[in-house]
Amino acid sequence: MSVLDLIGSTPVLQLNRMVSHRALRGRVFLKLEYLNPGHSKKDRVALEIIREARFDGSLALGQTVVELTSGNTGTGLAIVCGAFGHPFIAVMSRGNSMERARMMEALGATVELVDQAPDGTSGQVSGADLALVEIRVRQLVDKFDAFRADQFSLPGSVHAHEFYTGPELWAQCGGQVDAFVDFVGSAGSFTGVMRALRKVRSDVRGYVVEPAVAAVLSGAQARSTYHRIQGGGYAMTELPLLDRSLVDGYLAVDDDTVIRTTRLLARLEGVFGGFSTGANVAAALNLLEESDEPISIAALACDSGLKYMSTDLY
Ligand SMILES: Cc1ncc(COP(=O)(O)O)c(C=O)c1O
Repeated sequence: MSVLDLIGSTPVLQLNRMVSHRALRGRVFLKLEYLNPGHSKKDRVALEIIREARFDGSLALGQTVVELTSGNTGTGLAIVCGAFGHPFIAVMSRGNSMERARMMEALGATVELVDQAPDGTSGQVSGADLALVEIRVRQLVDKFDAFRADQFSLPGSVHAHEFYTGPELWAQCGGQVDAFVDFVGSAGSFTGVMRALRKVRSDVRGYVVEPAVAAVLSGAQARSTYHRIQGGGYAMTELPLLDRSLVDGYLAVDDDTVIRTTRLLARLEGVFGGFSTGANVAAALNLLEESDEPISIAALACDSGLKYMSTDLY
């Protein structure tokens, strides 16, 4: 038994109180991914990427691993690389909350923090900030002849959710999922979970959740690249892992609604999630409100509220 055996098989909670609070009909199922060892869904991605790379030979025994992270993939990689014996360097924008950097270091990672773009705001990471992180990642990969655990393009990012999260979710919801809503960063979990759900039910609907100010995947112009929902919404119009054939619609959520929903989720349901968890639940409730039928909607609680204690979320 190792910590790797504890990744996945997370529980699902039906959010009856949130649904009743809005006087809605239907069901919202939330898969509590913060109960993974690194407190986010990205433990699964880290495990699958490293497992696949070791299997296909792109990652040699003891080789250094480098990745750009908003903290969650890095935490997962710190745990997984530690278990497999690979040194790991996490490269993160200073715009992300600092408890993430401290957690990665505690788990054995080396953390490189990259300054934000000149007009950057702490707690809000933009596409411009990420571009700066990307430059540093490339330098480190060259310097250490490292393996890049690229969550934005490697198939493991999708496979983790296609082979595990999605099938678990379907079984735990008793096969009663009409729609899946997901706030998108790399789109790994959206594409992976949707592929799994469509394999068992071809008409399950998929909705991409985006920040209202930067709903660019829906085709809207970005009004700003700054928002509070850490982990995604980077205003990139194309994402290599987003399979558009699985998208039935786009749902935009604004910061205030997200924060209000995240707090309410903690109070009413005992779910202590991060901003993107609140974004997913807010989008699910809005979708339920718009729906003529009392449908069942599934979503992920992507990470823990504990990762945001240095912010004003709680
Ligand atoms: C907290 C959080 N929510 C949502 C996402 C987006 O997930 P994905 O990359 O699977 O689209 C991430 C990605 O890092 C995240 O850390």
